[in-house]
Amino acid sequence: MDLELRDITDEEFPAFSRVTEGAFGHQPSDEEVADWALRTEGEHKWAVFDDGEIVATGGAFAFDLTLPGGATLPVGGLTAIGVRTTHRRRGILTSMMDLHLDEVARRGQPVSILTASESVIYGRFGYGAAGDLVRWKLPTAGTTLAFAPQVDGRFRQIDKARAGETFPAIYDAHRAATAGALSRKPAYWSHWFLDRDAWRDGASARFYVQHESPIGEPDGFAAYRIKSSWGDHGIPASTLIATEVVSADPEVEAALWQHLLSVDLIGTIEAINRPTDDPLRWRLADPRRLQVHQAGDHLWVRVLDVGAALAARSYLVDDSLVLELTDPFRPANSGRWCLEANAGSARCTRTEDSADLALGIADLGAAYLGGVRFSTLAAAGRVDQRTPGALARADLLFSWTSTPWCATHF
Ligand SMILES: CC(C)(COP(=O)(O)OP(=O)(O)OC[C@H]1O[C@@H](n2cnc3c(N)ncnc32)[C@H](O)[C@@H]1OP(=O)(O)O)[C@@H](O)C(=O)NCCC(=O)NCCS
Repeated sequence: MDLELRDITDEEFPAFSRVTEGAFGHQPSDEEVADWALRTEGEHKWAVFDDGEIVATGGAFAFDLTLPGGATLPVGGLTAIGVRTTHRRRGILTSMMDLHLDEVARRGQPVSILTASESVIYGRFGYGAAGDLVRWKLPTAGTTLAFAPQVDGRFRQIDKARAGETFPAIYDAHRAATAGALSRKPAYWSHWFLDRDAWRDGASARFYVQHESPIGEPDGFAAYRIKSSWGDHGIPASTLIATEVVSADPEVEAALWQHLLSVDLIGTIEAINRPTDDPLRWRLADPRRLQVHQAGDHLWVRVLDVGAALAARSYLVDDSLVLELTDPFRPANSGRWCLEANAGSARCTRTEDSADLALGIADLGAAYLGGVRFSTLAAAGRVDQRTPGALARADLLFSWTSTPWCATHF
């Protein structure tokens, strides 16, 4: 059977979208197809055709990824991967990964990223889990901040039209300061503000609160839903679902949490998009109240241009290390690379020197943003120390002041 893999036309988008959604067990409405068209406008989208019919889909968003140190890297964000049940396990995804990685290289993006439906799929293509997301719950009764935010200003509850004017800039300030964060184009925000019924899981439409500095500058926002409940004996027990609490200023972020803790009739706050090292826990008088009930992989990183990717991020210490990489899916990357970080700049070049560490390209992706230590990967049997002390040096070199945090879904 002859299969054709090519970019789709705009007219083919509805059929494309139905195959993507169908692969996830969902039959999208016309409205959902139109929403996804809005979200992916101008982005690269392709499909596999069998006898003229779409049987598999894929796409890539062009993002800027914030690296440790604040530099941004253009990356390709793989999305919309789906293969019809009739065509699975015959190498179609593998062909689409080839196309995607070639295209990412052609566009000068040193790294590809994705979020995975299943964590078993993408390691074989060189992706490593680089940034986790956490969901936690916090009972509100008696919860206090022992380390209160030191910030002046005011809160303003606003409608989504107004939020649409101020939230993107607030988010951008946060993104500039957050390794692992992704740029959000106007299409991302237009789609996000649609806030469809189907996204709410029985909770309210989103509420939008922004914090403003004493001179009236918006410098933080909270977006949340409320799931109302009155408990067995009429005691208010609603859940406030904080979908995003964002500020570049940790004091403003804490003030937003303090504000959410003061909302009446709420029994529990549930946060769904949080980093693994959430400072809120350390502000609480009783930190054990913050109960993590889900933590897992979110942002996966695939290093494609090793030299450019490793030279682009910052390192907290000066050192040099030789990494021997194995990259079966892109064998040209395999071999030894010398990473030198010195006086605030870095370079990474081919070398004939002997290796300090040997690792797979997926392990380099996992460690790239400082989200996992090489020592942990070595303890998992994935990284091999060739020079005594090299693991500890690599841990130090790649560590950063915060864990990577990507709250963007794609
Ligand atoms: C995941 C999916 C895209 C895989 O497509 P596919 O065309 O069947 O994948 P391939 O045939 O190219 O598989 C390549 C390899 O990955 C393995 N693989 C693929 N999907 C897998 C899965 N879900 N679980 C375990 N292994 C998987 C295959 O067995 C094969 O292994 P091999 O090289 O050792 O033989 C497809 O099953 C699908 O559409 N799933 C539902 C939607 C989804 O989860 N999409 C991913 C979004 S991130």
